[in-house]
Amino acid sequence: MSFIVAGNWKMNKGPKEAREFFDTFKKIEEHSSLRKLFFVSAVNAPAAGLSLSGTHIGWGPQNFYPEANGAFTGETSPQVMKDLGAEYALIGHSERRSLFMETNEMVNTKVKAAQNFGLSPVVCIGETFKERKEGLTLDVLEKQLSEGLKDVEVKNQLHIAYEPVWAIGTGEVASVNQVSEAHQFIREFLVKNYPEHQKNMNILYGGSVKPGNSAELSLAKEVSGFLVGGASLKPDSFLEICKAVQG
Ligand code: PGA
Repeated sequence: MSFIVAGNWKMNKGPKEAREFFDTFKKIEEHSSLRKLFFVSAVNAPAAGLSLSGTHIGWGPQNFYPEANGAFTGETSPQVMKDLGAEYALIGHSERRSLFMETNEMVNTKVKAAQNFGLSPVVCIGETFKERKEGLTLDVLEKQLSEGLKDVEVKNQLHIAYEPVWAIGTGEVASVNQVSEAHQFIREFLVKNYPEHQKNMNILYGGSVKPGNSAELSLAKEVSGFLVGGASLKPDSFLEICKAVQG
């Protein structure tokens, strides 16, 4: 399994900046077994499709509506994303859950749709600070996994991103022990539920991953990728994270 370093640009950059980023990144990055990918807003999808086509760098939407087309004003089709060259789809990011009321049930529908449209889901899960304080972390993860992946068959790849909500965009990073505990728990779930596929299922850590902490975090148990927000917006800091993982 290749280690994945995925950037989540959130609602940042327009097509011109996206193209400039990719032009620079393609020049400075080194080809390696590391899987690099970017989650971009719908408006940057054509730029990602054009800039990254024929490269080993993957990309996908940060969100989509789980239908090919139709009367869904303001939404984005996974079919169109696939046609533009997307291979992945970010699903259930905590900002989607908390700001846009996405439930585990919606996550489940989207995971199935992504699989049907030929996109590999990266499914985000993670506890809030309050839930951690109350000792509910593993219960929350269990519920998000079992409901979000209910009756999901793995057709393409499927990956999980563990992102403690309290570590996202806060500069507060989970400790290696906290990350190891959560990732081992997620791996056990995958082993139990996807015995044939789990070897190809990466578990990414996300939450204030930076060039300075990525080497240490990559050594936490069952960490096989990163989902990087703020530090993915500049080609050099994203590259530093890739290099730290490559060792
Ligand atoms: P951050 O965001 O790296 O800025 O904390 C991570 C994420 O939201 O995926």
